[in-house]
Amino acid sequence: MAPIPRGGTVAVTGSAGFIGGWTVKLLLDQGYRVRACVRDADDAEKTEFLKQMPGYLTGRMTLHSADLDQDGCFDEIFAGCHGVAHISHVTDYDDQEYVARVCAHIIESINRAGSVTRVVVTSSIAAVISEVDIQEFVRRPVLYEDRYPDESNPKRTPQRGQGYSMGKVIAQRAFSDAATESGAWDAITCCPGDNVGPILSRHQKEKGPWQHNIEKMLLGECEQTPAYRPWMTVDVRDTAECHIRLLESTEVVNGERYIAWSTDAVAVEDINSGIARLLPELGHDAGAVVDPFPERIQAREAEFRSIWSGCELRNERIRKVTGLAFRPFDESLRDCVESLVAVGKVHVRAESDSGDHS
Ligand SMILES: NC(=O)c1ccc[n+]([C@@H]2O[C@H](COP(=O)([O-])OP(=O)(O)OC[C@H]3O[C@@H](n4cnc5c(N)ncnc54)[C@H](OP(=O)(O)O)[C@@H]3O)[C@@H](O)[C@H]2O)c1
Repeated sequence: MAPIPRGGTVAVTGSAGFIGGWTVKLLLDQGYRVRACVRDADDAEKTEFLKQMPGYLTGRMTLHSADLDQDGCFDEIFAGCHGVAHISHVTDYDDQEYVARVCAHIIESINRAGSVTRVVVTSSIAAVISEVDIQEFVRRPVLYEDRYPDESNPKRTPQRGQGYSMGKVIAQRAFSDAATESGAWDAITCCPGDNVGPILSRHQKEKGPWQHNIEKMLLGECEQTPAYRPWMTVDVRDTAECHIRLLESTEVVNGERYIAWSTDAVAVEDINSGIARLLPELGHDAGAVVDPFPERIQAREAEFRSIWSGCELRNERIRKVTGLAFRPFDESLRDCVESLVAVGKVHVRAESDSGDHS
């Protein structure tokens, strides 16, 4: 039940991913030893960027194949670690028994290790705000850590698209309960908002979904967000830094969760047009925002937008325990676009493209 020591050893699941990759990089930058866990260390497309990190070349970071779907895959990797940042997705959020089983074997590996004192579990703002009934935001408009989606709503089921947020809550509770039972480590949950920022490897442009949506905007394709929800953003570098500071914190308590977002809420059309505002040199030709929703939803656009504008996004708890100043969205968008061009090799649709927008 202690923070990790500075320079200690941290295992990061999902290291080839957008958030995991940044967490590995920042941990190395800050002097930690890292055990980077990926599905397949020999998958060059996904792991080459990790192998290019100086910490890998010196051996301060080691790379490990671990498929979450195999019980015991972390037994050897966690042995000797002080902390675990469990950032990885799971294969199927809709299968709750499977989600619980995966949590159970990861917990088992933590207990077997005997050395781990702090685990940060990556959840999502979906576990705060994924509502079946949008009127729930009128009843409870303050979006903060103690807010959960209305769990009493009988329509809150995987079949109705709630599997992801339900799976995240199951994981949060499984790790917190196991930590209480163990008494040797604590579990803190981090709920990131919509992550935007620089990709570190080309394959990450397909993930997200947010950086992938920006890639599509660069190609001239932009779709309205479901229920006209604004993006509730956080820079991926800030999410990674939050994970590290939660591992280090002397203030956090087992079972707590922290929302990582800047509290910026940005409409998709402003993001689409913002690319040319921030980077006029690109000559980006923003396509029209396509609204793919049925007419009955489109008829309620003003109502939905008014509900979102009545929501209050809060982040004072995480700012207090981490001391982090979140980057403004413009910086995240600019750096995301530049990385999509430089690392992702995205060919931007430009006004000078003489009408060929294929
Ligand atoms: N991005 C966001 O805006 C956002 C917002 C809120 C919460 N989150 C949470 O943050 C975490 C990381 O998200 P991300 O955006 O960084 O996702 P990402 O880029 O897709 O990375 C997730 C990683 O998890 C790995 N993974 C999935 N299933 C696996 C399995 N069975 N065994 C081993 N590895 C597996 C993936 O490996 P493969 O590539 O081999 O599949 C991938 O590298 C997730 O838990 C997500 O729910 C993300």
